[in-house]
Amino acid sequence: MIRGILLAGGRGTRLYPLTTIASKQLQPIYDKPLIYYPLTTMMLAGIEEILIITTPEDVPRFRELLGDGAQWGVKLEYAAQDKPRGIAEALIIGEEFIAGESVMLMLGDNFVYGRLDFLREAIAANEGGTIFAYPVNDPTAYGVIEFDADYNAISIEEKPKEPKSNWAVPGMYIYTADCAAKAKALAPSGRGELEITDVTRGYLEEGRLKVKPMGRGIAWLDTGTSENLLGASNFVHALQSRQGLVIGSPEEAAMRMGYIDADAFRALVSGMPRSAYREYLERIIFELDQG
Ligand code: TTP
Repeated sequence: MIRGILLAGGRGTRLYPLTTIASKQLQPIYDKPLIYYPLTTMMLAGIEEILIITTPEDVPRFRELLGDGAQWGVKLEYAAQDKPRGIAEALIIGEEFIAGESVMLMLGDNFVYGRLDFLREAIAANEGGTIFAYPVNDPTAYGVIEFDADYNAISIEEKPKEPKSNWAVPGMYIYTADCAAKAKALAPSGRGELEITDVTRGYLEEGRLKVKPMGRGIAWLDTGTSENLLGASNFVHALQSRQGLVIGSPEEAAMRMGYIDADAFRALVSGMPRSAYREYLERIIFELDQG
């Protein structure tokens, strides 16, 4: 069974002064903490065992927010990254947790919305490394992937000054268990980090990398700056208020995926304080009761 690693450390300097009191992934996207969204994405992708890696100070906060996952029928574990030595370090910290299985590494500040079939299919088909590609206006802030007409990767570069394509690599990576060994063999880059792009390049050089473009129906939003946080909040608000459906609810994901049954879902909702969040989930109970 594939394991999940949700990496939620880092400095969050671009969100200063907000991040003086709570990490980036605990900041609100409209009505929920940011981490709810990638966590829900992973649960909807079928991942039931997830290691959350964050800073030593934030481990207790995430534990308080998310617990051990039993309430959502999944298993959540926690580990600390004492310094932000790079995204690839998550694979080393998580090596024991991965325990020889494949892993999906997701960054705790990644917001993905849309039909997630592409993700489930990518997990099922992975034989080495699988990354995604998303067209962006300004690729210089991202890992950038270049591929041919058949989506075979040609090159991958981290934050290039002169990008070879406008396809950014979102923070969701699917790897076989040997990713930990690949991460361990890396030397820190010029900016002093173990680069996830170098792990991915290892699979590319072995001819074991797949690139899946994420279609127009998928929204992948940035949340690194205050402006991006507001943009993501506005996006969630617009969809939720228009459709009456909730985005990024681990309770709903748990119920829809069958990790918990309808009665457990009802019990979770009835234990919540009166809030707009509870009202969204009560609508789901109403639908369940209508059959
Ligand atoms: P970044 O956005 O690159 O860095 P950051 O979150 O520290 O923010 P800033 O640039 O404003 O200082 O990180 C992307 C994600 O990866 C984010 O969820 C934090 C996480 N991360 C870690 O947990 N450990 C790390 O060593 C690094 C580099 C990032």
